Amino acid sequence: MCGIVGYVGPKSAQEVVVEGLRRLEYRGYDSAGVALVVDGALVVDKKAGKLANLEKAIAETPLPAATTGIGHTRWATHGPPTDANAHPHLGESRRVALVHNGIIENFDALRTQLEADGHQLVSDTDTEIVAHLVELQVRSGVDLTEAMQRVCQVLEGAFTLVAVDAEDPDRVVAARRNSPLVVGLGEGENFLGSDVAAFIEHTREALELGQDTVVTITAAGVEVTDFHGVPQEGVRYHVDWDLSAAEKDGHDWFMRKEIFEQPRAVADSLLGRRTRTGALQLDEMRLSDQEIRDIDKIIIIAAGTSFYAGMVAKYAIEHWCRVPVEVELSSEFRYRDPILDFSTLVVAISQSGETADTLQAIRHARTQRSKVLAICNTNGSTIPRESDAVIYTHAGPEIGVASTKGFLTQLVATYLLALYIAQVKGTRYGDEIAEVMHQLEAIPAQIEELLGRSEEVYELARAHVKATSVLFLGRHAGYPVALEGALKLKEIAYLHAEGFAAGELKHGPIALITDGLPVLCVVPPQGRDQLHSKMLSGIQEVRARGALTICLAEEGDEAIPRYADHLIRLPKVPVLLQPLVATVPLQLFACELATGLGHDVDQPRNLAKSVTVE
Ligand code: F6R
Repeated sequence: MCGIVGYVGPKSAQEVVVEGLRRLEYRGYDSAGVALVVDGALVVDKKAGKLANLEKAIAETPLPAATTGIGHTRWATHGPPTDANAHPHLGESRRVALVHNGIIENFDALRTQLEADGHQLVSDTDTEIVAHLVELQVRSGVDLTEAMQRVCQVLEGAFTLVAVDAEDPDRVVAARRNSPLVVGLGEGENFLGSDVAAFIEHTREALELGQDTVVTITAAGVEVTDFHGVPQEGVRYHVDWDLSAAEKDGHDWFMRKEIFEQPRAVADSLLGRRTRTGALQLDEMRLSDQEIRDIDKIIIIAAGTSFYAGMVAKYAIEHWCRVPVEVELSSEFRYRDPILDFSTLVVAISQSGETADTLQAIRHARTQRSKVLAICNTNGSTIPRESDAVIYTHAGPEIGVASTKGFLTQLVATYLLALYIAQVKGTRYGDEIAEVMHQLEAIPAQIEELLGRSEEVYELARAHVKATSVLFLGRHAGYPVALEGALKLKEIAYLHAEGFAAGELKHGPIALITDGLPVLCVVPPQGRDQLHSKMLSGIQEVRARGALTICLAEEGDEAIPRYADHLIRLPKVPVLLQPLVATVPLQLFACELATGLGHDVDQPRNLAKSVTVE
């Protein structure tokens, strides 16, 4: 959601900024623009649509050389995606150019005031208001840094702002509140980005910024203050992935590449979690054993795919720890007046660490004195920073908008959390925990084996490109897998897809079954006899009504083939861990089907990777 780039240094600012925007394309956007500072004036080019439109415009009318610039990919909030609404926006006298991610909540009042003062606004955006306000400040005689500080004091809402002043060509100034921004530290050059992908090909040294900060970059240095000019310290860190991680590695889509990276992502997320004696250790846990022993309820909050990881976590935590778990959509959490206190652990699951709904939910939980633990894939992002504890997943950057390796590694983290709580509370013996760890450690090879058979799934997917609706059934831990399979198809194939708990079928959804309707069934392992036989009945029920059944059943399960029009074999794993393997064919199915339909799998329409507005 909105990509932001800023640059000051010896290189061509246009090239650095446009390349940075390309690396941020995965965030989702619908227009793009750049502003360069050239000989005391601003040169701005911006276009609705993909970055390619902007690049074409620049190729037709090249921009003059510049070494200071800013750029933006916009995901429309105020006003449709048009050239006029694209960022950067300019102040009244074209002295300041500014880009923005987020929403200015007091925009109406500010706009009314500016219009009353005679300002001509040419866009529908909240951003243009801020450009005018910052420019008013620099024209009053303060420098761009102070202008930004003053304006931030009157803004309400969430924002990352980045600005340049035509009369101060050697600096770029940015500010952040509840919205991502990171500084790239170079030699004789510095960068700003929504995330490190924006500048990773130039530097792997980064500076994380606190809440409500203003940062000024020049070629020579970086200065951070709060909104009142008081100096602040950023946290310097080294980015441990490189440009190649952000490229497709021979695959047609980032999503496909990321599906195939899952054995490594799962293995990395398990690394270093055990002491020499075999006990579990979670480095960033930061909750004392006593605090964990005091937990009498867990509430998991998350959105989308991360929510489904939370549903699986509920089964694991309740089974291994005997602690009641609620799973709540983060967008709903605050509004139901949840019952929380110091003995409630709130677990926030977020791949990006920036999802606004989840962020607001954890803030609410913390005001109620609950401890918050984040499960997150993005180092230095806001949600882990505002949490009491964190378990980082080690999926590496997830570029495809549809989450894949993010989901599997979230599952791993929730299993680790459940086992850790069980260890501290003593609800499972050490050898039982070690046994599950062994089973988890075997998963990467099992996923690898499944991926080796991807062609079978691709064939099935290609055979279904004409489908207009697809259903998914699961029970127990297979139910969230069914929901996730359906979400993947909706997101990237734009196909009507629904996931159901198989037991619910006869309470309504079975009316949807028509001749030839594809129904994907996630069959629980055989060891869980009741579950297995109930699932089998569900499959028979839909098949009897004409559905075409595609069954995912474990190796050696001979009860299923006779009811399966198509069979996908899964490796043998315990029921609680089955989502780690059962999800993979569903991801492959969606990816191939969407490819067959000619869709942009990595950047599906209307979606953004990181949803930073509520
Ligand atoms: C689905 C997907 C979304 C995200 C959701 C939460 O493929 O990617 O449903 O899971 O927007 O995002 P995070 O995990 O970043 O909080």
